[in-house]
Amino acid sequence: MATTSAVFFPDAFLSAMRSAIPDTAGFNDFIAACQRPLRRSLRVNTLKISVADFLIRIAPLGWQLTPIPWCPEGFWVESIDENIAPPGSVAEHLCGLFYIQEASSMLPVSALFSRGNAPQRVMDVAAAPGSKTTQIAANMHNRGAILANELSSSRLKALHANLSRCGVANVALTHFDGRVFGAAAPESFDSILLDAPCSGEGVVRKDPNALRNWSVDSNQSIAETQRELIESAFHALCPGGVLIYSTCTLNMLENQQVCRWLIERYPQAI
Ligand SMILES: C[S@@+](CC[C@H](N)C(=O)[O-])C[C@H]1O[C@@H](n2cnc3c(N)ncnc32)[C@H](O)[C@@H]1O
Repeated sequence: MATTSAVFFPDAFLSAMRSAIPDTAGFNDFIAACQRPLRRSLRVNTLKISVADFLIRIAPLGWQLTPIPWCPEGFWVESIDENIAPPGSVAEHLCGLFYIQEASSMLPVSALFSRGNAPQRVMDVAAAPGSKTTQIAANMHNRGAILANELSSSRLKALHANLSRCGVANVALTHFDGRVFGAAAPESFDSILLDAPCSGEGVVRKDPNALRNWSVDSNQSIAETQRELIESAFHALCPGGVLIYSTCTLNMLENQQVCRWLIERYPQAI
């Protein structure tokens, strides 16, 4: 095992990443990036306030906001001095004017609504704690319908709390294993987000111990679940619909190979 700075990297993970990034400079950049603290970010909840009004309202708080290029409601946020209240502690957060969400986590929903896609029936297969469900609802202006599903009961409570705080009104919550929907609700949704459970390799910048229990065996077992989830989501999608698959992990087994597996299984349909 190797520990570089505060981040814990298992040796097997380092060798897997070395094979994925054979170029030494690229690999060193990757390790350095894993150790850079995350920039804090938030997304304005346009169900409750416009971006323009939000910027006026929070001006006295002394935060420095930088727009996130791939999400018009997203901003990186820095406090100009240490005595300034952090975003999670202000009344504007409590009453749902914004959601604390990582910039990268805003990408899947931005992709879902890109190229003029304006879905009316959306399923979020693995929804808790709700950063993306609330973003979907804002993009739909609380119209149409979202089915937000979550397997874990404790996380379902957090999802419910966030939907309620953000004033989301077009969501039905379900508590199933996401693998049931292909058979239970075939061709029912015009867009589906599968933000899949994953090995979480990408969260080391937030949690330096994220890789403590990492193993190739566990990645393979998670990838099997992901293939079952994506196949089920694919069957629940209306013909011509949009399916977004996202994870917060880095390896190809859980990302490109899951998508490739689905395409190869249904080559005429995707
Ligand atoms: C990456 S997290 C989802 C994050 C969420 N989309 C968000 O943006 O706030 C993956 C979620 O999948 C849930 N999950 C795990 N296995 C599942 C399954 N078989 N069916 C549905 N959800 C599952 C986990 O409990 C976890 O909440």
